[in-house]
Amino acid sequence: SAAEKGGFDWFMRKEIFEQPQAIADTLLGRYNNRGELVLDEMRSISQEDLRRVNKIVIVACGTAYYAGMVAKYAIEHWTRVPCEVEVASEFRYRDPIIDPLTLCVTISQSGETADTLMAIRHARVQGAKVIAICNTNGATIPRESDAVIYTHAGPEIGVASTKGFLTQVAACYLLGLYLAQVRGMKYADEIRAVTDELGRTPQMIQQLLDNAQQVYDLARDLSSINDFIFLGRHVGYPVALEGALKLKEIAYQHAEGFAAGELKHGPIAIIEPGMPVFVIVPPQGRDQLHDKVVSNIQEVRARGARTIVLVEEDDADVEAYSNVIIRLPRVSTLLQPLVAAVPLQLFACELATLLGHDVDQPRNLAKSVTVE
Ligand code: G6P
Repeated sequence: SAAEKGGFDWFMRKEIFEQPQAIADTLLGRYNNRGELVLDEMRSISQEDLRRVNKIVIVACGTAYYAGMVAKYAIEHWTRVPCEVEVASEFRYRDPIIDPLTLCVTISQSGETADTLMAIRHARVQGAKVIAICNTNGATIPRESDAVIYTHAGPEIGVASTKGFLTQVAACYLLGLYLAQVRGMKYADEIRAVTDELGRTPQMIQQLLDNAQQVYDLARDLSSINDFIFLGRHVGYPVALEGALKLKEIAYQHAEGFAAGELKHGPIAIIEPGMPVFVIVPPQGRDQLHDKVVSNIQEVRARGARTIVLVEEDDADVEAYSNVIIRLPRVSTLLQPLVAAVPLQLFACELATLLGHDVDQPRNLAKSVTVE
């Protein structure tokens, strides 16, 4: 009913708008006022074991897998422990190299996905410790894990995951910072700078939600288009993949995400005049990522693409090459997915609505896939 949906037309839209609160709930009580991580739920794995870990493997499916891709960048950066990420359905069948020094991190909103469950069972048989990041209390995956970090997003009803994704990403940051803290890799003030910034992300997300109309207008303008490209680099790459997945899931449109640097190795050949290309631009900074992505925008624009550019608010470098600019709040590169994903969620939800689809119950999909 409309009441259950809090006045929104879809659970999905309601859940998108719940994200500032959901992120705040994920963060709540997980670091103290000195910025030190306090993850009591990790106590079932000894700090000694966490210090000995020499490899991290992340396994998940669908949107949760993209959260895992973001996590890999953050965890390796903060801990310097090699981190792999793999779709759960591929993991155990290739006989992966795991041993008691491997930490397996699994991400699942429902905690019931069969592919993911089978992957962690396999990891445990090999002696790995398993940490679950999950939204559902007492689900099978957390019950079969050594430790669990609940995302506390509240129930997610829409089949296409939104607040599930954002809170998974936030929980992965907490885990990465915690591992860095336990292993003595980062000084307290560095960790504190990140937790301070994390604490500001709910208000950044709210700012984007307050500007939803711009994205809805864009969806109307593009409602007759059937092919969409998403480009990103570094943590913007999994955001591009997630933006494309959302369009496939609920709008049933052909959408592909690419690592922007791969454009020249193939995908640029499919660009045609008028094709919408969404580009997630890394924040301006000392590394060259930002400038390289700006060049990619020029390259697709030169071939006639309609460029929709997600870029931080005071970045003027893209203006000459953008058809539409979606402004993102200023945030560090590693945390940018928490803001950049939001306009893409809004876009997919609105496009699917305009096309007359059942946004909450897309064809052929299930909220939780309990068969392999
Ligand atoms: C299904 C859903 C996806 C979800 C995936 C993983 O395919 O339709 O939206 O991302 O399962 O679900 P999980 O509950 O494990 O996060």
